[in-house]
Amino acid sequence: MSMIRSKFVGFGHYLPEKVLTNDDLSKIVDTNDEWITDRTGIKQRSIAADNECTSDLAYEAALNAIDYAKIEANEIDLVIVATATPDNTFPSTSTKVADKIGVKKGAPAFDIAAACSGFVYALNMADLMIKSGQAKNALIIGAETMSRLVDWTDRNTCVLFGDGAGAVVLTATTAEDDNKGMLATKLFANGGLYDELRTTGGVSSSKDAGCIQMNGREVFKNAVTYLPDGVKQVAKEAGITIDDIDWLIPHQANIRIIEGTGKKLGMDKEKVIISVQNHANTSAASIPLALSENIRSGKVKEGDLIAFTAFGAGFTWGASVVRL
Ligand code: ACO
Repeated sequence: MSMIRSKFVGFGHYLPEKVLTNDDLSKIVDTNDEWITDRTGIKQRSIAADNECTSDLAYEAALNAIDYAKIEANEIDLVIVATATPDNTFPSTSTKVADKIGVKKGAPAFDIAAACSGFVYALNMADLMIKSGQAKNALIIGAETMSRLVDWTDRNTCVLFGDGAGAVVLTATTAEDDNKGMLATKLFANGGLYDELRTTGGVSSSKDAGCIQMNGREVFKNAVTYLPDGVKQVAKEAGITIDDIDWLIPHQANIRIIEGTGKKLGMDKEKVIISVQNHANTSAASIPLALSENIRSGKVKEGDLIAFTAFGAGFTWGASVVRL
């Protein structure tokens, strides 16, 4: 029996036009470029226009990925959007995006809520549905308008986030045809640390969306532990060594977290993809956004072995190993 695998055939991303620099931020809250750069590595972030929603960002990134994949929208038979900032509490943002793109009528569409780990969670779900024969061409999008969820008077958090979207198209292939595709994923969660990073409210508690609140040090400590740990565990599962990995694409929250992760894994600095300086933390969008940018620049190539690793609110975390 031939073994089905999920192969990456499309990559796309989208960033809103408006850019907010650290200097711009220093006019809104008591902060400065030096503090933000030293502590986070962030230099600027994109901010969605007033009339731009998460679904609009997701739509643009998806079109970009479908174009790259050279497939017709109506061949897509699964759509997953990873987001913590949906247009509406329901329906899911994925249903809106799927309809706007013109995916196959009746194809399942759903959102995944795993905060900054959402894209890795979504990849795993798509991979499982492809492997089981439930889907052939899956569109997976990470999209966020974090600017709508931050408290613009709280300098501890508002400097850290940005808006954006990234997307990939996965297609069913067989292991005999080539050695490419998703090799392994590991997902984790620990709700015991729910309160360390969360919104101040939600539909069933405060009846509004709330805004972001976090214990920065606790987040930092756990992120630099579990981002590398996820990679170690998934590498073992995939039967590869850390040395085999061509590129590590970690969730982009903070340059010190990213560099600490690479260091704990003993990886060459050059192998760790960093884009947080340009986009800040775009939550579930950060990994597919960094992937698409680096594919399009020619840095990351077909055949490369990639590890994704993510960590976010919940806490949730997870990692994947992929042969592009
Ligand atoms: N500008 C100027 N000063 C600031 C700012 C700011 N934007 N934000 C905080 N400060 C001040 C604080 O008020 C504090 O002042 P005080 O000592 O007078 O009280 C001082 O800077 C130091 O604050 P610390 O919390 O000690 O700074 P730290 O070195 O821990 O850095 C940071 C804070 C950057 C938030 C760090 O803890 C961190 O990166 N944590 C991870 C958080 C993260 O990335 N969250 C994203 C979501 S989770 C995820 O995606 C993985």
